[in-house]
Amino acid sequence: MSKILLIDDEIMITSTLSTLIEMMLDYEVITFNNPKTLIESGILESGKIDLVISDFIMPYMNGLDLLSLIKEKQPHIVPILLTGYSDKESAIKSINDLGLYYYLEKPWDNHELIKVIQNGIEKGKLENELSQKLVVIEKKNQEISRLYDLLRRDFDKEMGNVLEFIVSLTNLVEAKDAYTDNHTRRVSDLALALGVRKSLSQEQLRYVEIGAMIHDIGKVSTPESILNKPGALTPEEFEIMKNHPEAGARIIRPISALQKPSEMVLSHHEKLDGSGYPNGLKADEISVETRIITISDIFDALYTDRPYRKGMPLEKALNILKSDAENGKLDQELVGFLLEMADSGELQKIYGE
Ligand SMILES: [Fe+2]
Repeated sequence: MSKILLIDDEIMITSTLSTLIEMMLDYEVITFNNPKTLIESGILESGKIDLVISDFIMPYMNGLDLLSLIKEKQPHIVPILLTGYSDKESAIKSINDLGLYYYLEKPWDNHELIKVIQNGIEKGKLENELSQKLVVIEKKNQEISRLYDLLRRDFDKEMGNVLEFIVSLTNLVEAKDAYTDNHTRRVSDLALALGVRKSLSQEQLRYVEIGAMIHDIGKVSTPESILNKPGALTPEEFEIMKNHPEAGARIIRPISALQKPSEMVLSHHEKLDGSGYPNGLKADEISVETRIITISDIFDALYTDRPYRKGMPLEKALNILKSDAENGKLDQELVGFLLEMADSGELQKIYGE
């Protein structure tokens, strides 16, 4: 049963009101005629009061001070002020200051009084339910972030194992392909630097790094005679060479942690205008992570020495990327970042210059 606290220094008022409320509503009414007795009674600490109706002018403490004290102790209690006409202004002011639910003027209208009490009790109940629900939600949130942290830790651990595995895979390709010597490390450093300039998230950067390290993993299936052939490939040899992205993606795909990098492995020879291979993807079909790897790969291939030819001068290599970007093959913004890196010397640093 809801409990109502009634306080007024006039005994006539408390007895009339409590009789009225108990008659009209199924609530228990507790009355006091002095704020001091109320405070000393300890009832405010019991947590059992749902609504309080307080007189304004009383000995020892006025109604506003009493209601704010009650609010401090038990914020869930719905406060109603009962005022004389002359106190009306301070009552209105306290609606905001105190979070007063309602003020009633003496002499009150019985009908209005009962309605206000009923609504006030209802409001209190709803607010209580809401705050209980909020507590439950907050607990659930904490549980979710705890589980997320656990998953994250598992994922990081798995990623650590996967990275070790990746390093040994890249060693495998590098052992076979004379040119790849350190190519994967440089492409990976370059791709990471471009990713940072592109403001990728930590997670994206991690995948870019892995994708770059393993982008040519499929070359384990390319015959050494083609891989290490000095000079240009015949059209037939080039067709065989073009199988390496799909072969690489096939090798990586079974590892669930490498789903995203496997897409980069598959598409690192695609071009924005659809002229690349193996699927002739266009623009939006190629992720930003893949575009970064493609640009890093092309630049490194042009700039560094191969078994059968010297690398190009920096300016010439950059010009090729620039015109590929202008012709719609490479991402303009990313190539722009590469040019900025050359201007600032960051690019040369990756090459130990
Ligand atoms: Fe490749």
